[in-house]
Amino acid sequence: MSEKKIGDVILDVKNISLRFGGVKALTDISFNVKEHEIRAIIGPNGAGKSSMLNCINGVYQPQEGSISFRGQTFKHMNSRQVAEMGIARTFQNLALFKGMSVIDNIMTGRNLRIKSNLLLQALRIGPAEREEVAHREKVEHIIDFLEIQAHRKTPVGQLPYGLQKRVDLGRALAMEPQVLLLDEPMAGMNVEEKQDMCRFILDINDEFGTTVVLIEHDMGVVMDISDRVVVLDYGKKIGDGTPEEVRNNEEVISAYLGTSH
Ligand SMILES: Nc1ncnc2c1ncn2[C@@H]1O[C@H](COP(=O)(O)OP(=O)(O)OP(=O)(O)O)[C@@H](O)[C@H]1O
Ligand SMILES: [Mg+2]
Repeated sequence: MSEKKIGDVILDVKNISLRFGGVKALTDISFNVKEHEIRAIIGPNGAGKSSMLNCINGVYQPQEGSISFRGQTFKHMNSRQVAEMGIARTFQNLALFKGMSVIDNIMTGRNLRIKSNLLLQALRIGPAEREEVAHREKVEHIIDFLEIQAHRKTPVGQLPYGLQKRVDLGRALAMEPQVLLLDEPMAGMNVEEKQDMCRFILDINDEFGTTVVLIEHDMGVVMDISDRVVVLDYGKKIGDGTPEEVRNNEEVISAYLGTSH
């Protein structure tokens, strides 16, 4: 593999605190993500990992702190604004339309980029038709990239779980994001499916230069593919560094062995 080039900070999370009533989901979390990096977020169940992604992509509004994207700070952004800025995500529990085909599901990722109005689109005239053709081409390209050509027309609900996860990744890729947030993309997969998913994440990172923030429980995967790792435990950050540094961090070891509480 050629030497990878990590760039400047693209995403800067500063002093984020998020509470749900009495539950402190996140307490004073700060970390950054650099351009072209694969940045993992790990931690035991309920540590606040998904909540962190939800803050980054505007689903949750943290009570304190701020998040900057390419130096532009935002405090209250909704999901659409975040997506328009170039941040896409996949979900821990799939957010696909099970009755719709693979193509149509991935096409929903293009919605953000469709410019012509709905009436023109419905009538399929002029610019709307040309635009639709261009979007379809992008989607076909993603389908080839993810090696799911054989399933293009299949309703997503009929596919095995591992392939559904791949379609969800395709939907996020269709947004042509600069930063891709992945919430447990390999959960529930067998070894072979995991290997495939790892390969796709590495290829996306490598070929498209997409920055990746990845929540993952499989430590082997994390150690293999991530450049740096943030460790959360009970909503607090207990580790941050290279996989090697994190693996040797006493606090991290005891959180995973369950002896710190
Ligand atoms: N919408 C919500 N309302 C109330 N509490 C919430 C909400 N979302 C998350 N929490 C709480 O915040 C804490 C962190 O949850 P979160 O889902 O972020 O953890 P996680 O690290 O992603 O866990 P897992 O590994 O199980 O996915 C938990 O105590 C959870 O119950
Ligand atoms: Mg989670």
